[in-house]
Amino acid sequence: MAQKLIEVFFSYSREDKPLRDKLDIHLSSLKRQGVISAWHDRQIVAGSEWEEEIDHHMRTADIILLLISPNFVNSEYCYAIELPEAMKRHEAGEASVVPILLRPVVGWKNLPFAKLQIYPSGAKPITQWSNEDDAFFDVGEGIQVAVKQLLQKRGQKRQEQEQEQQRIRAEEIWQQREEQARQEEQEKQARLAEQAKIQAAEQLLKKQRQEQLRAEQVRQAEAEKARRAEEARRTAPPAKSQPTIKPVPPIIDWNRRQVLQWLGLGSGGLVLAVVGKSVLEINSSTQQPPLQFSPSQDLQPLLGSSNALTMATSADYPHYEFIDSSSGKEEIIGFDVDIAKYIAEKNGKTLQINNIDFIELIPVLHAKRADFVMAGMTPTEERKKIVDFSDIYYEAKNTIVAKKGANLKTADSLKGKKVGVQLGSIQERIAKKIPGITLQPLNRINEMVQEIKAGRIEAAIIEDTMAKGFIAANPDLEFNVILSTEAAGSAIAFPKGSPLPALFNPVLQEMKSNGKLEELVKKWFGEDSPALKKAS
Ligand code: ARG
Repeated sequence: MAQKLIEVFFSYSREDKPLRDKLDIHLSSLKRQGVISAWHDRQIVAGSEWEEEIDHHMRTADIILLLISPNFVNSEYCYAIELPEAMKRHEAGEASVVPILLRPVVGWKNLPFAKLQIYPSGAKPITQWSNEDDAFFDVGEGIQVAVKQLLQKRGQKRQEQEQEQQRIRAEEIWQQREEQARQEEQEKQARLAEQAKIQAAEQLLKKQRQEQLRAEQVRQAEAEKARRAEEARRTAPPAKSQPTIKPVPPIIDWNRRQVLQWLGLGSGGLVLAVVGKSVLEINSSTQQPPLQFSPSQDLQPLLGSSNALTMATSADYPHYEFIDSSSGKEEIIGFDVDIAKYIAEKNGKTLQINNIDFIELIPVLHAKRADFVMAGMTPTEERKKIVDFSDIYYEAKNTIVAKKGANLKTADSLKGKKVGVQLGSIQERIAKKIPGITLQPLNRINEMVQEIKAGRIEAAIIEDTMAKGFIAANPDLEFNVILSTEAAGSAIAFPKGSPLPALFNPVLQEMKSNGKLEELVKKWFGEDSPALKKAS
């Protein structure tokens, strides 16, 4: 790196010019070495107001040589202007001032520069040296010392500056890194927020798709229902020919329009169940919605004048409730029906049964459009929020029904399989918890059996009592009890706040203690159940 030359300034009186020139010559080796720069000398223009002007070079010089002589001290400019300026810069560390005694000066020791290092050595004025060259040589040595010190100082300063620059650079790099890290963090946060948004949107979409899918499945099931009903009825286990049920009394009042409608519609759901001297009514589920049956006036008349109890069920659930046509007419019979009749009778009421899809049962109760539901329904916590339940009257287990030899025994074994469940049943809820399963919710149990046989689903989750009946009627199927799942007991459901549980529960208790319930369990689900015997 090219070094800045050391600038030397001569401050002297005009009268001493010859001595100044000699000194100049003595310093020429330093000039030649490229250490000090061209001399600066003030150029005083005759008559100019120079008192005001201080030479520009005087203000920038690194070394100021004061050539002391009586004339210097006498000169107003040298003594009163340049000397104080030089001393000021020396004290401020901006320049090195080197006083050189050219000639003897009376009392110089009391002048301001006397405290500085004076040359020649011993403060012997140049003109008093016996050999003038020696004197200038001595002065030259002194100036060299000053130059060396200056160079050292410069070196130090440069080092300090470099260190400072390095520090600043390090600081900048650090700040850049921090800024970069901050930006990266910001970008990361933005990315995460974006991802979260996308995820939320995807989930919403997924939910919507699932809802659409479900709606579509319900629609399809609905559409196939009519077509399958005929076939399904053939595969349902044959109904027992009511050996213990009192014969259904003759139809007293056919609603002609309803009957015709029903016949026209084919095999929609059908109801006919009567206790005592009651009027028989027919409701076709294909007429819904709106549901045709009426509630017992918001349950109020129940405690008073009304004589009928309206039960809703899904008669697709042998042997809890299913349609029996063996007698030539269609009738809903089963375990639940027997219990309902018993309870109605005990309470001096007639019973009307309405057959609707399982998924509609709770909404119908909730809307108080039926007095109670018996449908092998399990009192789950979710349902308890919407409806009230009686005591449990029957405990059952869940099973996996599949083609013979499929050997599906655990929930785990259903992973990756297409599995049927009844829409709205607890089996659907249980199946939803099995990871990796593809659910096929269907409206009717019969449909599930059809789907398995046709190979459109690989299995179905069905209660054991039901499974037994279906297996008996379809030897190409098998079932396995799922040990790990929750028990699937059945209870009677009522609209929330209904007074009926208080009337029903004591009868259920009575049936438990007097053996009636046991008898009905044997009749409908027992090994020697005539229904099962007939089926196998
Ligand atoms: N126990 C199961 C449930 O409560 C299934 C009942 C199905 N009943 C019927 N009649 N299909 O969800």
